[in-house]
Amino acid sequence: MKIKKAVIPVGGFGTRFLPATKAQPKEMLVLVDKPVIQFLVEEVVASGIQEIIFVTGRGKRAIEDHFDYSAELEHFLNMRGKHDLAKKIHEISSLARFTYVRQGEPKGPGHALLQISHLIGHDEPIAVLYGDDIIDARVPCLKQLMNIFEKYEKPVIALQKVAKKDISRYGVVAGKKVANKTYLIRELIEKPTPDRAPSDLAIIGKYIYTPELFQLLPQMKPGPGGELFPTDIFDLYIKNGGEMYGYEYDGVRYDCGDKLGFLEATVQIGLKHPEVGKGFRSYLKNLKL
Ligand code: G1P
Repeated sequence: MKIKKAVIPVGGFGTRFLPATKAQPKEMLVLVDKPVIQFLVEEVVASGIQEIIFVTGRGKRAIEDHFDYSAELEHFLNMRGKHDLAKKIHEISSLARFTYVRQGEPKGPGHALLQISHLIGHDEPIAVLYGDDIIDARVPCLKQLMNIFEKYEKPVIALQKVAKKDISRYGVVAGKKVANKTYLIRELIEKPTPDRAPSDLAIIGKYIYTPELFQLLPQMKPGPGGELFPTDIFDLYIKNGGEMYGYEYDGVRYDCGDKLGFLEATVQIGLKHPEVGKGFRSYLKNLKL
């Protein structure tokens, strides 16, 4: 069972970043000089996957344009002798094979996945990545999950320990540790109150779905905010005897769906940036805070 396709739902409104996201997709918000969504695409490609399906919606056309060729722009840059930049721009469009499916209404990530079932083979495992979570890691986070999948051939989700006060923002799991950083999941609850959370292990938006799990999605019921979240389906799959693993990935996560997380990502990526990193570091050092 080889994973050949990654699905990235990008249909959400991005209300947490209004007014910035009134006329532009939140996935196109920029970390120094690269939109958030490009970091995710690069993670997928670095994990060895070449086919990416975006589930988009109204107002998300900038994402398609970003991963398309821009002949005029490349010509313009080449005419001005900026060949390196032209090449860099060109490379974005050949990162992967992109497919776009429209969601119609932004009714949550589970609803997004229901829109692409005709593109997924009956015996095909897939990767699913949510647009907000960027993980800075030596081995791409998705690749780490794929390694666990290779071992067990069962669904895998990314996990991270989070503070109790933040737990209600996440899907939370209970599980039995079966290997280093690896858990056999026993239960999952979407956005529990702190007293109902079964542990401090939160689901981070990166998943490997097997066909058995994917086929259960039509049974989803509306969750918080009336949206469809697949977490209850994971729980149903387990209660029906299915095996699912969670992996506490190596790496540092930036939650780019949150203002503070986004600022932290900007600082960290800015500090590592080959062009401005040095100057930015000395600027930060001189701040009188
Ligand atoms: C989604 C998932 C949730 C997960 C979170 C991680 O929620 O439903 O289980 O913990 O992503 O980022 P959302 O952030 O879309 O509300």
